[in-house]
Amino acid sequence: MADQPPIPFHRGHFLFGSTFSLLRDSLGLLRQLQQQYGDQRVVRIKVGRRMITVLLKPEETKYVLQENNRNYGRGRSYKILREFLGDGLLTTDGDYWRRQRRLAQPAFHRQKLALLADTMIDEAVSWTSQLQRLDKTQPVDMSAALMEATLRIVTKTLFGSGLGDQTTRLSQALNDLNHIISQTVLNPLRLPNWVPTPANKSYINASGLVTDLITGIIRERRQSTGKHDDLLDMLLRATDEETGEGMTDAQLLSELVTLFTAGHETTAASMSWTLYLMATHPDVQARARAEALRTLGTRTRFSADDLRAMPYLTQIVNESLRLYPPAWAMSRLSLGPDQLGAYHLNADEGVLISPYLLHHDPASWPNPDQFDPNRFAPDRSADRHSYAFLPFGGGPRLCIGNQFALMEMVALLGQLLVTFELQPITSEPMLPRPLITLRSKQPIRLYLRDWPV
Ligand code: HEM
Repeated sequence: MADQPPIPFHRGHFLFGSTFSLLRDSLGLLRQLQQQYGDQRVVRIKVGRRMITVLLKPEETKYVLQENNRNYGRGRSYKILREFLGDGLLTTDGDYWRRQRRLAQPAFHRQKLALLADTMIDEAVSWTSQLQRLDKTQPVDMSAALMEATLRIVTKTLFGSGLGDQTTRLSQALNDLNHIISQTVLNPLRLPNWVPTPANKSYINASGLVTDLITGIIRERRQSTGKHDDLLDMLLRATDEETGEGMTDAQLLSELVTLFTAGHETTAASMSWTLYLMATHPDVQARARAEALRTLGTRTRFSADDLRAMPYLTQIVNESLRLYPPAWAMSRLSLGPDQLGAYHLNADEGVLISPYLLHHDPASWPNPDQFDPNRFAPDRSADRHSYAFLPFGGGPRLCIGNQFALMEMVALLGQLLVTFELQPITSEPMLPRPLITLRSKQPIRLYLRDWPV
């Protein structure tokens, strides 16, 4: 160990290290680190009183997420998420996580997803009909409209019948929560939950409301004898092969809250960026629309199979996920000491993996800021490192909803493109704002023009 060089250190402020740069401009800091230290592959920064190692290249990222994943647990930021999400897939580790993942995985199997695809398409159709009734001379806040659409989709696919008039309350509560949690996760100077700050009070209110609503749904479903093709049913019936046991109500609640939270805001954020990119790249939009129309043929509604048969739309969604990955950063904690490339990593050290940083690395992506869906054409993807593109993470903790999300995004995009022409309201570029998910600084507002008949 003595002959190993220390991990390069980015000093930042002489007293506070990188704490305030991370709070003020996380994305700027990440790009600066990549530019300055990319050749050295990893760099250490000081945040609050802790040192964090930032991975700058796909090889080291693959090593941590996949090859030696057992040495890396959930980072500190997940502890804060755990206060809200409970012990769910996103926030737990070790044997407990492995068992829960085994139980939940079959619900996301290809065949099961095909059942859910119809729900997604139905929702996409009714969403676009609603948009059709709006005044076309006014721009539409697509960020808000997509939050509603993805909320309805996740609600219907999880709970079947939906939450009726509770949906809006739940959506509002989750939205508040996202703001509060992201401020908290990113703020190393946070006060504990029991301190009655206004933020803590709204956090407790919002979280209580979400828990009450979902607990009510589980109780009702346990008593119902009917069969439902939704995720709740699949999770309720899942049993452990080794013990024959299923999930308790408390486990189910945590998993449902986790799926609900993880499953709609990420997709809405990504779809908003995708539509912004469509509006600002009319040539790409026209080609995508042509593919969607060709696939639809004389029918009025896409089928589940269609969603996998529109390669250009899928390329667009991928390129949008590359430029604006909703999960822009993930954290890990080293459980034991490790060898990270040429360097020694201590036990109990924070590790930061940033899809945003890796997706903008010019070594993997020439002209990284340029929108070019053809990057994902099969002949241009073959030589790329598998961890150069990781919007859904990687290794055993790969997002369980990745195929779900891709299907949903293609359904929404396809339905929208055959109905409207998307036009920007300004030529000013839209800047990203890294909350828990990567949102835009301003809501994305677009004109939706009817296609001439
Ligand atoms: C564009 C949409 C989405 C993006 C970008 C995304 C991204 C991610 C990422 C990066 C992770 C890994 C986090 C880590 O390793 O630290 C993850 C995990 C997870 N995601 Fe997604 N996700 C999306 C949609 C969904 C959907 C639709 C669902 C569910 C319906 C979902 C459920 C989950 C769950 C449960 C985990 C934890 C998995 C585990 O650790 O076993 N996500 N997601």
